Amino acid sequence: MIPQRVNLVDVGPRDGLQNEAQALSAATKIELVHRLQAAGLKDIEVTSFVSPKWVPQMADNAEVMAGITRQPGVRYAVLTPNMKGLEAALLSHPDEVVVFGAASETFSHKNINCSIAESLERFAPVVAAARAAGVAVRGAISCAVGCPFEGTVPAQAVGEVARSMRAMGVQHVGVADTIGVGTPRQVQAAMEAALAHYPIDAVSGHFHDTYGQALANTLAALHMGVWQFDTSVAGLGGCPYAKGATGNVATEDVVFMLRGMGIDTGIDLDALIDAGVFISQALGRSPVSRVATALLKKRAAA
Ligand code: HMG
Ligand code: MG
Repeated sequence: MIPQRVNLVDVGPRDGLQNEAQALSAATKIELVHRLQAAGLKDIEVTSFVSPKWVPQMADNAEVMAGITRQPGVRYAVLTPNMKGLEAALLSHPDEVVVFGAASETFSHKNINCSIAESLERFAPVVAAARAAGVAVRGAISCAVGCPFEGTVPAQAVGEVARSMRAMGVQHVGVADTIGVGTPRQVQAAMEAALAHYPIDAVSGHFHDTYGQALANTLAALHMGVWQFDTSVAGLGGCPYAKGATGNVATEDVVFMLRGMGIDTGIDLDALIDAGVFISQALGRSPVSRVATALLKKRAAA
């Protein structure tokens, strides 16, 4: 059942940097994207076309997209919550746009200022217009196991959002543990709910590591045959509207685990660690990756 090849989407430039108090220059963000693609990442979530009043960290979205020297075979994704975001995003020619909904009503209101039903109504024209423009569409389902406001989220709520997304033409759905509270069986139940509406090749996991469960949850999803995951270089990440949630599982940690299991990701771990050091230094801290920390110590000792 365990896949032989896994695709990782590095969401660090978006999920990671949206949550940083410290402003980074567009040039630093562009350099991060360049380092990620040089390390072998084929999917990078670059930025989001959201309201700059809500998330000022992503206000330089168009500048960052314009500054990237695109590498053939690499897909660049951006978040688009509504038509205004999509229209702005299309000018930057992303390969994929992401509509982001939630399985929790309260989180939906806090994050995108509308109910789940309203968000789905808003997404429908975004999905149609993106697909008409030849751009792939991914959907994210936040709070798929737990919500900072409502607590445990039933898998059924994930299934309902997945069903609606499928019906409107969203091609791929990401099951997101926004606050990193999920444990393997809960994550498997949320995945199963999404898999009731999408084939295995169109479902990914997006696990924040707040409670240190993300690698275990990744392994649990792998055992179901899921082979696509969002991860974040140096363990960057968080959501400004999910207080206390820390970063996504570090890309370095997932690559190390998969490599040890004989699963190919096409990613050069050393180059990835260097990318993590680059962005962590820009933020004035060390990478939040156990693997990076261990291998950097080993390098220093050699
Ligand atoms: P709203 O205030 O309800 O929007 O926000 P509105 O339509 O009423 O418009 C209000 C103002 O925002 C207007 O400007 C609009 O033009 C502007 P004004 O007339 O006041 O000057 N506006 C926009 N500006 C730029 N780009 C846009 C846009 N839309 C409206 N796209 C809205 C609704 C969705 C815009 C807002 O709530 C928002 O931007 N939220 C984004 C929150 C966010 O980015 N959260 C983090 C990403 S999600 C995440 O991290 C989870 C994920 O990682 C998975 C997981 O871990 O769970 C994906
Ligand atoms: Mg996230």
